Amino acid sequence: MALLEIKKYPDKILKQKTKELSNIDGDTQKLIDDMLETMHRVRGLGLAANQVGVSQKLCVIDLSLKEDNKIPLIILINPVIVETDGSVDAEEGCLSLPGYMSSIKRAEKVFVKGLNRDGKPIELEGTGLLARALQHEIDHLEGMLMFDRMSPIKREFFKRKYLRDIKKIKD
Ligand code: NI
Repeated sequence: MALLEIKKYPDKILKQKTKELSNIDGDTQKLIDDMLETMHRVRGLGLAANQVGVSQKLCVIDLSLKEDNKIPLIILINPVIVETDGSVDAEEGCLSLPGYMSSIKRAEKVFVKGLNRDGKPIELEGTGLLARALQHEIDHLEGMLMFDRMSPIKREFFKRKYLRDIKKIKD
């Protein structure tokens, strides 16, 4: 296993729509293991493949750090949200926007279909933090970051502040 570099905004790969995975092979299994190791190392709750530079529809979610729940580790390939219900605001962060938290409005409940790491079809219903994590990671795979869910005014403010702050760090 290996630790992967997490791409940070404004890296262009984060804004590109990822490709569906048609062939789940040994490289896919290695990528999944490396993504899990990378996510656990930085204590993230979720990670999408394009965040580690691979533009494929694959993401991992592990909420065991955050909630004393019984939600097992989730590995999702080619996920699609087929149904949503309700709407709720809550704080979230992103490994590709380090140091930033913001309140984002998302569906309260989602129903997702996809494949597991063996290529078998799976269906998931999520509420609460799981619903939020599923939407956040699936947005990544569509080339969207959490500021794309903000109002235009808030988005511009957020992006300007973020870009100014990372420039300060680089200078
Ligand atoms: Ni993220």
